[in-house]
Amino acid sequence: MVTAIRAIEPWEFDDMRRAMGLVFGSDPPQGDSRFERVLPFDRTRCVFDNGQIVATSGAFSLTMTVPGAQVPCGGTTAVAVLPTHRRRGLLRQMMRAHLDDVREHGEPIAALWASDSAIYGRFGYGCASICHDIEIEAGQVRWNRLAPDPGPARLVNRAEAFDLAPPLYDRLRAVVPGFFGRTTEWWEDRSLRDSESHREGGTALRYVVVDGQDGIDGFATYRTRPKWDQHGAGRVVLRDLFAVTPEAWSGLWSLVLNQDLIRTTEGGLRPTWDPVFDLVAGTRRVRATRLDALWVRLMDVPLALEARSYSSSIDVVIAVSDPIGDVSGSYRLHAGSEGAECTPTTEGPSVWLDLEDLSSGYMGHARFRELARAGRVTGDPSSITALDAAFSWDPRPWCPEIF
Ligand SMILES: CC(C)(COP(=O)(O)OP(=O)(O)OC[C@H]1O[C@@H](n2cnc3c(N)ncnc32)[C@H](O)[C@@H]1OP(=O)(O)O)[C@@H](O)C(=O)NCCC(=O)NCCS
Repeated sequence: MVTAIRAIEPWEFDDMRRAMGLVFGSDPPQGDSRFERVLPFDRTRCVFDNGQIVATSGAFSLTMTVPGAQVPCGGTTAVAVLPTHRRRGLLRQMMRAHLDDVREHGEPIAALWASDSAIYGRFGYGCASICHDIEIEAGQVRWNRLAPDPGPARLVNRAEAFDLAPPLYDRLRAVVPGFFGRTTEWWEDRSLRDSESHREGGTALRYVVVDGQDGIDGFATYRTRPKWDQHGAGRVVLRDLFAVTPEAWSGLWSLVLNQDLIRTTEGGLRPTWDPVFDLVAGTRRVRATRLDALWVRLMDVPLALEARSYSSSIDVVIAVSDPIGDVSGSYRLHAGSEGAECTPTTEGPSVWLDLEDLSSGYMGHARFRELARAGRVTGDPSSITALDAAFSWDPRPWCPEIF
């Protein structure tokens, strides 16, 4: 019998972790500390059945970059329902409790990474960024004649990486929607974590930087996975690679693509605008698989829409349909270079859309004209075009880390 949905007490965390391990198909490794120091236990919402945890969820308290601003964000995480209890509505009940928690924290948006992209639209989350898994046959790559000379890259040790990477990350975070703030604990336990259990036959992480005028301009981490067959060639598995100048992007990519005994370089979670596509000669040499990445739900439409900046002026009434009902209604959005104002209204709308699609466009990813072509967004074509132009943003969103 399901007895409660509540936050765990600190001493119940091992039970929560055990339940997550049962669902995600991994036994929690010794010393795994990916959650203890960064997940506020009072923001967990777990389902108990006869005193046992049978479903888990939680929220990180994040600060997320959105177009032109940074906003508090409930980072939905650790969503799992034991195989013994699935498809009985526990996820739906937990999401209700979780979204109430996000609203009580006054966070204008919630965000998550989905294990399956069919799950979260029904709760008003929209796919807010796309990433690429890429694979490059390193031996075949030539540099594009128009690409800048690679900036000199150098290997650093782990302690230096901890000093050098965060300030560079924060420079990108200031401008790239989808980046979120990382505390020291987050860097240690998640972003630069290098536990044995995650190496999958690869080496420890290697750390590379490209120096700039003031600190570093580029940072990358990777492992190599040697494979001694008749070709004697292994694989570079990229974990991070981010930079702020063309020379630094070029320097880092050049280093990870040009190594003896390496046949293939692969990297996940790459932005759709990764300069590597334009750095190499023959863009088809970069094989890319498109995947949904960050999912976002607007928790409070006026608060969220007033927080971000817009690429062009807009004055429109939109009718928003929230699949769970919380924020359904009509809103007038008036935005320009002086800021944005969004208010509930009884005026007639000129655009109708689901909260999933509004959330999907919020970070600058989804194009409302494309959604209209698919019949999901309806209304006056010129209003949809204006909405599209106002919400589009450069750079397009990139969330470089799964949480
Ligand atoms: C996905 C998961 C959380 C669903 O939990 P659940 O308690 O079985 O879900 P519910 O019974 O509350 O279902 C809620 C709705 O989601 C739908 N749904 C559930 N799992 C789904 C899936 N994997 N794909 C598509 N829809 C799904 C249900 O059909 C139901 O739809 P409806 O209410 O609109 O009819 C659970 O199966 C699980 O833990 N899976 C493995 C871990 C995982 O994928 N976690 C999500 C991490 S982001």
